[in-house]
Amino acid sequence: MTDNKVLMQVRDLSVEYKTRLGMVSAVDHVSFDIYEGEILGLVGESGCGKSTLGKALMRMIQPPGRIIGGELIFNGKDIMTYDEKQMQDFRGRKASMIFQDPMTSLNPVQRVDEHLIEAIQVHFPEISKEEALQRASELIERLGIQSNRMSSYPHQLSGGMRQRVMVALGLILNANLIIADEATTSLDVIVEAKLADEFRDIRREFGVTMLVITHNIALVAELSDRLAVMYAGHMVEMGDVYKVFDDPLHPYTQGLLNSVPNIQLDEGKELYKMPGEPPNLTHPPSGCRFHPRCPMAMAICSRIEPDLIEVQPGRHVKCWLYQDHPEKSEPTLEVSK
Ligand SMILES: Nc1ncnc2c1ncn2[C@@H]1O[C@H](COP(=O)(O)OP(=O)(O)OP(=O)(O)O)[C@@H](O)[C@H]1O
Ligand SMILES: [Mg+2]
Repeated sequence: MTDNKVLMQVRDLSVEYKTRLGMVSAVDHVSFDIYEGEILGLVGESGCGKSTLGKALMRMIQPPGRIIGGELIFNGKDIMTYDEKQMQDFRGRKASMIFQDPMTSLNPVQRVDEHLIEAIQVHFPEISKEEALQRASELIERLGIQSNRMSSYPHQLSGGMRQRVMVALGLILNANLIIADEATTSLDVIVEAKLADEFRDIRREFGVTMLVITHNIALVAELSDRLAVMYAGHMVEMGDVYKVFDDPLHPYTQGLLNSVPNIQLDEGKELYKMPGEPPNLTHPPSGCRFHPRCPMAMAICSRIEPDLIEVQPGRHVKCWLYQDHPEKSEPTLEVSK
């Protein structure tokens, strides 16, 4: 699946949005690796910073947002040091991002073939229009769209086809990394499942690495090799998808997985409801940001932020339950209901 060669190292990445109510700490000192050839699923409650993180990896954060610190080391080079021209090249040739609604990324007055040819020729001017068209048709057929649809405009295609065109735009330039942000969410469940299957085939065939951001826990279980869990701008758990599902370590991950309906759920057994509300990221809780909602919170949790550390081979968790500290002996906190 993956030979554990790191494609991208994210180090100490922080992103803030400036709002009337103050600075929103949407991604706070996040560090993790993306391995070459893997599908990494990224989950977490709405507003926890998944899209911000995805866009930050491409340096696509727009004002009032700003990356306030960190390194983004891609194939050994820190793209935070790139100028805008180098970044444009990076965004086309190395990495590409697919959003929920491709209509916002596809030019409505440009046909699919024109989109693909332009993408090739901007980055590889030496390739002729005929050759570009040839490559584009082959790829689009590979992705299950008949090549006669190449002359369609985006609005003439179904949602699933538009997503495939977006995937094609990434693949045609041999991007190493595709970040899909809720890319399948607007599709019906059957098309969604089919596209998810295709993501796996695409990964195998093109050797591309994928970061898949989704609310759909079942999809992520099916699709991903590893799972990353975010809470309130922090990366709280990462690991092999089966291991995380089998034995979630972070109390937030435990709550998140227990709150998902499961076919095997015993009749009459109620789904877990996580106590409390997601925090306001203009004033995030001190220490571990999950502590006000955590059933296992200790006194230390409100005071000192734990690091995301590797507690078992390949399993990372950001929680005092798995780390020692002189202050850990303090009594347990009351949990808000
Ligand atoms: N343009 C913006 N201006 C101000 N705040 C923003 C902006 N975009 C995002 N935020 C804030 O940053 C935080 C993270 O938002 P983000 O969209 O990254 O979350 P998300 O995990 O992708 O949520 P969802 O699952 O709903 O897509 C939220 O508190 C959000 O309100
Ligand atoms: Mg989002």
